[in-house]
Amino acid sequence: MMSQNDNSKDKQIARLEAQLLMLKEQLLQSEKLASLGQLAAGVAHEINNPIGYVSSNMKMLAEYSDSLINLVKLLSQQVDEAKRLPLLAQFDFDYVCADLPKLVQESEQGLNRVVDIIHDLKDFSHLEEVEFVDADLHQGIQSTLNIVSNELKYKAGVVKDFAALPPVRCIPSQLNQVLLNLLVNAAHAIEQHGTIRISTGFDDNWVWFSVSDDGKGMDEVQLGRIFEPFYTTKPKGQGTGLGLPLSRSIVEKHQGVLDVSSTPGVGNCFTVKLPRQPQR
Ligand SMILES: Nc1ncnc2c1ncn2[C@@H]1O[C@H](COP(=O)(O)OP(=O)(O)O)[C@@H](O)[C@H]1O
Ligand SMILES: [Mg+2]
Repeated sequence: MMSQNDNSKDKQIARLEAQLLMLKEQLLQSEKLASLGQLAAGVAHEINNPIGYVSSNMKMLAEYSDSLINLVKLLSQQVDEAKRLPLLAQFDFDYVCADLPKLVQESEQGLNRVVDIIHDLKDFSHLEEVEFVDADLHQGIQSTLNIVSNELKYKAGVVKDFAALPPVRCIPSQLNQVLLNLLVNAAHAIEQHGTIRISTGFDDNWVWFSVSDDGKGMDEVQLGRIFEPFYTTKPKGQGTGLGLPLSRSIVEKHQGVLDVSSTPGVGNCFTVKLPRQPQR
């Protein structure tokens, strides 16, 4: 016969098992994300080389095609009009002359876009990188913004409120990771369409950046829990509850502070404060 005690123990075990299963799934999810980042970095690296020579070939192509067009024009002046005009017409020469520079220019713009994306990806996804360097925070912010702007644009306009900053001793790719999480969280907190503001500033001791949004905000109870690993209010598949604990540990590794202030229904602001002179 089962006692009441056994029964409640069974329930407890079942609950713990369910919890364990969920944690395992979330770990798998974050593992997948990490390997995705590495994959992206690898692909970016591989594409870099061919893009390099295609870009420089494109520049030569622009020059050569200019010369060729000029040569044909000069040569054709040596030919009787009666022969020249049908020939030029046969090869659509006027059209080609007008279109070729446009094609080359568009291709160059496309290539530049690819180069920018690769640059951002490399900047962003060197997650294994653990070297502290003196870096320009704004550069990292811009790269991260370029990467997520597509995700953000349906939810929010992004306002940049940048002060001129001194260089900061940091691991840039890891701070990018923090900013990414804050931006995605801000977008998730906005129900319809809102504004996300990224501000930067400094004083004698600190350099900081903050991400504020006019989304749904948080109450005291939520605020007390957001740094708990696996705490999430998002539906399954959207939230892992790991973003903020991870962000906080990155900021603390920089001897910095991750501050938050929130008002339900009004919005939310996270501030990452980094020491200007970290202790070695
Ligand atoms: N900008 C924000 N506005 C309102 N709530 C937020 C904001 N950022 C984080 N939160 C709350 O903190 C929780 C934990 O965030 P996080 O650790 O990044 O995990 P996740 O985003 O996967 O849920 C979120 O589920 C949400 O409830
Ligand atoms: Mg998050």
